[in-house]
Amino acid sequence: MKKTRITTNVFLPMPVVIVGTEIRGRPNFLTAGWVSRVNTDPPMIAVSISRANATPKVSRRTGAFSINLPTAAMVKETDYCGLVSCRYTDKSNIFDHFQGTLTGAPMILNCPLVMECRLVDTMELPTHLLFIGEIIGGYASEGGALSGGADRI
Ligand SMILES: Cc1cc2nc3c(=O)[nH]c(=O)nc-3n(C[C@H](O)[C@H](O)[C@H](O)COP(=O)(O)O)c2cc1C
Repeated sequence: MKKTRITTNVFLPMPVVIVGTEIRGRPNFLTAGWVSRVNTDPPMIAVSISRANATPKVSRRTGAFSINLPTAAMVKETDYCGLVSCRYTDKSNIFDHFQGTLTGAPMILNCPLVMECRLVDTMELPTHLLFIGEIIGGYASEGGALSGGADRI
């Protein structure tokens, strides 16, 4: 297939997740697309978060975060968490959430698949911090992670 040279600012298709952290004892939620599983055993996941956001400072302090997979029905809230910073607006009441074994990693009840992660490493990149977390607990809605016709965003 013939190719046209394009910009270097190229992306692959991405999932959309919501990263849960805790700031001053209150849950905070940030939308992220730059996320991937990165190790089998122990299970690890990495998420790249801009230094411009509030979440990196928080997560570094608490050493924990959660990864939550939203459904299509949650697109409004997911978009909101990706547009608004907790620096200016409290996002703690947007979702009903629960805590697993880790503090500082609030998980969203309505998400069909959620995981709590212990921060094991942080890689400093020029604009972003790559947070590498060990998955300490995974939780799926009963009937399957995407049961009941819940479509991913
Ligand atoms: C669809 C979508 C995907 C996003 N992906 C990322 C991402 O991977 N990394 C990141 O740092 N910000 C990403 N953002 C932007 C942050 O979610 C946004 O800056 C957020 O307001 C930061 O919240 P905080 O300051 O409370 O941490 C994304 C936003 C949207 C809408």
